[in-house]
Amino acid sequence: MEIIETPAAMHRWAETARGRGETIAFVPTMGFLHEGHLTLMREGRKRAARLASSLFVNPTQFGPHEDFSRYPRNFDRDCELMRTVPVDVLFAPAAEAMYPPGSQTWVEATEVTQGLCGGHRPGHFRGVTTVVAKLFNIVKPHVALFGEKDFQQLRAIQRMVSDLNFDLEIVPVATVRERDGLAMSSRNAYLSPAERERALALSRALEAAGRSVAEGARNAAQLACAARFVLERTPGVEIEYVEAVDAESLRPIERFDRPVVVAIAARVGATRLIDNMVFTPRG
Ligand code: PAF
Repeated sequence: MEIIETPAAMHRWAETARGRGETIAFVPTMGFLHEGHLTLMREGRKRAARLASSLFVNPTQFGPHEDFSRYPRNFDRDCELMRTVPVDVLFAPAAEAMYPPGSQTWVEATEVTQGLCGGHRPGHFRGVTTVVAKLFNIVKPHVALFGEKDFQQLRAIQRMVSDLNFDLEIVPVATVRERDGLAMSSRNAYLSPAERERALALSRALEAAGRSVAEGARNAAQLACAARFVLERTPGVEIEYVEAVDAESLRPIERFDRPVVVAIAARVGATRLIDNMVFTPRG
């Protein structure tokens, strides 16, 4: 696996591959890889001749009191895991290479980032769409893969790609879960064994919402209520939000006859976790 640190060298790699007629799949990451990332990479491997990934803990998507400085990092282990896929090229820039002094341009999908996490993490999605737009311009992929675990991030990136006419395909990939249902996340590394047990309340709450859809519920508030009921009965889980919204626009809805996403953010101890599931009503 080639490791590239500067945008100029990454451009050259991409131009050479494109010049040979090779397609490029791209999986951006912030490292501390888990099976969820590797699933995206394996899917990318199938979809293009060359597979590129990036490892960059993007400072602009963290708020001033968030976990940027303590975000888990293990570069050597991440490289080893990428080699198993295998990834052809890893773009791993320093912060100054991505945001040189004088940087002042932002990319923002406004409406789709208003609710859910956007309401609780001001500036977060602006940081995400800005860095992803830059990475797309640097890596020049034909296809880029994103996990549905970060559902609002996925919708914001799809919106950006469509609104700004990026010439690439976004491929959503289903959330990868541990055997007991916990959605895989680099932040799970923060959880103590007791907190990890409590964290299962998120996926159980979503399953409860799913059961209420299967039983005929067609009102978004009913779904949110079913999920909230489970979370509120789990000591040590502090709800930030539980919402059921339209799965395409992420706008609030009342009754639904189209796919709906139930999304949760909650703190387990000091760790903020998110999870979601999409439900499609039958009939
Ligand atoms: O999902 C992530 O890991 C990050 O938000 C991303 C897409 C790599 C941008 O920094």
